[in-house]
Amino acid sequence: MTRSFRVESLKSDLGVAELVDIPTPQLDEGEVLARIERFALTTNNMTYAVYGDALGYWNLFPATRPGYGCMPAWGYAEIVESMAPGVPVGTRVFGYFPIATHLTMRPTKVTSRSFVDGAEHRTGTPEVYNLYELQPQDADPRLDSLTAIYRALFITSYTAADYLRDRDFFGAEQFVISSASSKTAYGAAYCLADSPAQRIALTSARNVDFVNRLGHYDAAHEYADLTAIDATKRTVYVDLSGDGDLRRRVHEHFGDQLAFDCLVGSTQADGFPEEDSSLVGPAPVFFFAALQLDAYKAEGQSRTFMQRYLRDEREFLERVAASDQPSITLREHAGLDDALGVIAGFHDGSTDPAVGHVFVPDAG
Ligand SMILES: NC(=O)c1ccc[n+]([C@@H]2O[C@H](COP(=O)([O-])OP(=O)(O)OC[C@H]3O[C@@H](n4cnc5c(N)ncnc54)[C@H](OP(=O)(O)O)[C@@H]3O)[C@@H](O)[C@H]2O)c1
Repeated sequence: MTRSFRVESLKSDLGVAELVDIPTPQLDEGEVLARIERFALTTNNMTYAVYGDALGYWNLFPATRPGYGCMPAWGYAEIVESMAPGVPVGTRVFGYFPIATHLTMRPTKVTSRSFVDGAEHRTGTPEVYNLYELQPQDADPRLDSLTAIYRALFITSYTAADYLRDRDFFGAEQFVISSASSKTAYGAAYCLADSPAQRIALTSARNVDFVNRLGHYDAAHEYADLTAIDATKRTVYVDLSGDGDLRRRVHEHFGDQLAFDCLVGSTQADGFPEEDSSLVGPAPVFFFAALQLDAYKAEGQSRTFMQRYLRDEREFLERVAASDQPSITLREHAGLDDALGVIAGFHDGSTDPAVGHVFVPDAG
């Protein structure tokens, strides 16, 4: 029998994760066994855990023990056993996986490009999380690592920029972007380069130099220097930090000039903001990329959108991985042991944003 390992997170303290040895079940008719080749972890995976109950992420890969949950991650896998028609052994896929060596799935809606895991416990979340896109046989480890890190993040940056562009950027003269060192934030700054507005970064003191080196922002300020930003300019706040105190300071500083508050991320929050009638200016509007993608699908625009997106993602990945001045250094971890420390680093905020963590779970 194949030995299978999985990382499970303690729901009551998301900095704590444990490696669990689980028996791989015998496949039933209609099921496949995927061996996970490589996946990436960023703060976004931590946020999946933070919203595990509220947005249903804990349901996708049920944990073996009560009080624990399986944090999802994006990556690549190969089908190594199959009892499902149309999905032969050797098929490679990109999609959503637990932090594990293997996953049993039940392919439905099988086409020449993709299938959907129709396992019963996976209903009720946006389809993008259950979709597995078929991949070429010849893996390109470097490109696969970059895609595992950036796909879910850059598609968010990209669709959020589309959302703002479709609304004439709310007339912004400047975007103020928090947690500016995060990949989703600097992806958004990159995608907003066609707007006439300036892109102003807000970040921790320790990340100001990194943010300046990225070259995607017109200026960078540490959080304590928020008031140094020109408050006479019409401003759109693109919030990746989710920090409630910072939100209040931003609203008070820009006052009537705050045109829109786009809440995209929660690197520094542990839940959705409470409704707050005392907040000056517009209430934050949560932007959820998965729902935006579902909307493109409902409008029959998925194919056109993906063609445009994949072309632009390739350009972005070339830019971040450029050999003369890369924004990221890939760190490849063999096995799953290091995942526990990497998760703890995301939890306490000590992770270096210049490092991209990639795992090869079954490194032999
Ligand atoms: N709405 C959506 O559809 C959607 C989709 C994808 C991602 N997101 C969200 O975007 C956010 C960024 O994700 P990412 O993967 O791009 O992040 P990342 O690249 O891993 O960003 C790391 C940065 O986040 C901040 N940070 C992380 N953990 C922290 C902590 N414990 N305490 C304080 N600061 C911390 C720091 O930035 P600073 O020093 O610059 O503050 C750090 O440099 C996440 O909240 C993610 O869920 C949302």
